[in-house]
Amino acid sequence: MPDRDTHKRSLVKGFTWRFLGTLDTTLISWAVTGNPLKAISIGGIEVFTKVILYYFHERVWQNIRWGKGVLRTVIYPEERLKNIHPVFDRILSREDREAYLDQRSKVIWLTGLSGSGKTTIAQILEKKLFEAGVFCQVLDGDNIRSGINNNLGFSAEDRQENIRRIAEVAKLYLNSGVVTICSFISPLRQMRNTARNIIGAEDFVEVFVDTPLAVCEERDVKGLYQKARKGEIEEFTGVSAPYEAPENPALVLHTASQTPEASARELFEFILPSVKPVDDE
Ligand code: ADX
Repeated sequence: MPDRDTHKRSLVKGFTWRFLGTLDTTLISWAVTGNPLKAISIGGIEVFTKVILYYFHERVWQNIRWGKGVLRTVIYPEERLKNIHPVFDRILSREDREAYLDQRSKVIWLTGLSGSGKTTIAQILEKKLFEAGVFCQVLDGDNIRSGINNNLGFSAEDRQENIRRIAEVAKLYLNSGVVTICSFISPLRQMRNTARNIIGAEDFVEVFVDTPLAVCEERDVKGLYQKARKGEIEEFTGVSAPYEAPENPALVLHTASQTPEASARELFEFILPSVKPVDDE
C-alpha cells in the first residue's frame, strides 16, 4: 500500500535514530561513570540491540491501525470547502441533458463478492441498454483501481475512500443524464450507505449479485481466492475480510443458478422502464 513505509525506509530510520540514541547513551554513561571507555562499550553494545528492536517495533506498529484515524478529507470536508464555490445552478441542468438523451439517468450499483459475476453482468447489461437506445457507462473495480484510485489498497478505510470517490464520479455521470452501472464489491453496508447518500436514494438502485462464497471460490476466475487462502493476499473479501449482504436491495440476482446472460436480462427488464419511460403521446 502506498501510504505504508517500506521495509528499507524503516531500516534506514532505525539507523539514523540509533546514531542519535547511541550518542546520547554514550554521553550520559560517560557523565555517570566518569569513564569514557565504559561509556563507549555501553553505547557500542546498545547500538546493535536497539537497531534490531527498533526495526521490529516499527514493523509491528505498521500493522496496528489503532490511533491512525481516517482520511481527513472524509472527516473534515467543511474545512477544505471554505473557499470553494460550486456553480451548479449556472450549468446545463440534469433535466436538459436527460431530455436531450431521451432517457432518465440512474446509478445501478452492483455489489457482491469477487467472482460473483458483477463485471460480466455489467458488460452484458451495458450492451443491452445501448441496443435499446440507452446511453450508459460502466464503472468497474479493477479499472477504477488502476486509474483514479490507484493510490488505494484494501483496508476498510481505503475501500471506504474507494467507494466515496466512485460515488462522486457516478454522481457526475448521473447529472450528465447517463445511466451508470457501478460494479464494485463495496463489502460493507456503511460504504454502500455513503454511496447512496452521495448519489441520492431515489437514483441509487442497489443490486445484490448473490453468489455463495463456495461458488465464487470454485470459479476463482482470477486465481485470487487460491492466493488469499495461501496468505499471499491480505484482507481478501470473504476469506480474511468481511462482506455484509445488503438488507433491502432493489433486486437480487442468483448467479449460481442462472447464466450471466439470464441475470443481465433480468436486470435489464427490471431497470428499462425507469430509464426509458414510454412516451405519453
Ligand atoms: S472494494 O471492496 O473496494 O469495493 P473493488 O470492487 O474496488 O473492491 O475491487 C475488487 C477487485 O480487486 C477484485 O475483483 C479483485 O480483482 C481485486 N482485489 C485485489 N485484492 C483484493 C482484496 N484483498 N479483496 C478483494 N478484492 C481484491
